[in-house]
Amino acid sequence: MPSRSEVSYFGAGPAPLPTFVLETAAASLLNHENQGLGLGEISHRSPTANKIIADAKTALSHLLSIPDDEYETIFMQGGGSGEFSAVLQNCVVAWVERRREKAVKELGEGKDKEVLERVRKEVQEMKVEYLVTGSWSLKASQEAARLIGPKYVDVVMDARKSDPKGKNKFGAVPELQSLSTEGRARKGYSALTYFCDNETVDGVEFPKFPSELEGNEETEAGEERIVAADMSSNFLSRTVDVKKYGIIFAGAQKNLGLPGITVVIIRKSLLKLTTSAPVAFLHALSDLLPNIIPPIVFDLATLAKNNSLYNTLPVFNLYVATLVLQSLSAKYGHKRIGGQGEISARKAEQIYGTLDKYANLYNVVPEKHARSRMNVCFRLKGGDEEAEKKFVKGAEERGLLGVKGHRSVGGIRVSNYNAVGEEAVERLCQFMVDFAEKEG
Ligand SMILES: Cc1ncc(COP(=O)(O)O)c(C=O)c1O
Repeated sequence: MPSRSEVSYFGAGPAPLPTFVLETAAASLLNHENQGLGLGEISHRSPTANKIIADAKTALSHLLSIPDDEYETIFMQGGGSGEFSAVLQNCVVAWVERRREKAVKELGEGKDKEVLERVRKEVQEMKVEYLVTGSWSLKASQEAARLIGPKYVDVVMDARKSDPKGKNKFGAVPELQSLSTEGRARKGYSALTYFCDNETVDGVEFPKFPSELEGNEETEAGEERIVAADMSSNFLSRTVDVKKYGIIFAGAQKNLGLPGITVVIIRKSLLKLTTSAPVAFLHALSDLLPNIIPPIVFDLATLAKNNSLYNTLPVFNLYVATLVLQSLSAKYGHKRIGGQGEISARKAEQIYGTLDKYANLYNVVPEKHARSRMNVCFRLKGGDEEAEKKFVKGAEERGLLGVKGHRSVGGIRVSNYNAVGEEAVERLCQFMVDFAEKEG
């Protein structure tokens, strides 16, 4: 049986964690800080749990420079997929409430019937906008259509349509001029503009915040524009300007910790709206706009009000994340997460550099501008499955595990998360060179 030090793991998630974090956590599972009890056995309402939440928030706030007066951080369950639903529902409720409040202001108090009539009319124009650049944003848009109906879902960008190879595949982040004019015209009716910052399956990453959404904090109707981003697979890998987002979310199981914890960073003004939305008013819209009231455990305002402890939080899992956050915060100091950004970029450059050097054998799937620093997807000899099998086997023989591509797209995928050290990347690149010289 190999030891941890003999193996380098490049799986896409769950992903490797620093050994010292696992050692500390493992001891805690038996006996947390000499309490004679393990962390999985201690109440989520205990001072111990509250301290872990507070420590996680402090470290995350430091790393991402979160403006705490304007943003709330929530730890919850449900995973990235849970957020596909939660983000949609919370944003649509906020949109409805904004419209309701406006109508009350303009029509006057006590005009319930007229207010409802006006909002019902406006609802018909509402859209949720999705930039679809890969499998996960596609899934998120499909979940929106499943919940509230396809007529409300505006796919303002479908990267498959810009596939330069004409194969209708993901692999690019198109210029955002290709946002549909319909989408742009509807800004005032946009309840949400959604994108996935890093597409884990397709190896596509937004090189930076989408320029079309830059300086676009207000819709044409003078309302706050809500940009939501799925950062599940590139969370904590580079600097992020939190203020550009209404919501950022990430499942923990790549760069942060164990599965079971999801982080949501959300603008407080949004929570205020979802708190004040009267449930009876939302019910009165349900024939037009179904399924917008989130289950209580997905109601982000309720979770925030309860400091992430509305229901039982997996405190042990959060502890693992807290240890990761604290170690990053201590390691990078004033550089904050930018320090990790430098390392992530350096490792990615080394991997892509090696692949490009042997381009006769290795074919990187995404376009250069959209290459993910976290998930490096490539084919061998244009998709020769036998050669790819040989590559996977050869890698395994050297203790380089988890390099097989996602079952939906095939090929090879090397994930370059934070806990993949530079020495592991070095070993991988050496293998890729040796394999290319032998087989190329
Ligand atoms: C970018 C992205 N979003 C969402 C998900 C779904 O996360 P979960 O499996 O936690 O629901 C994943 C899973 O790998 C992902 O990579």
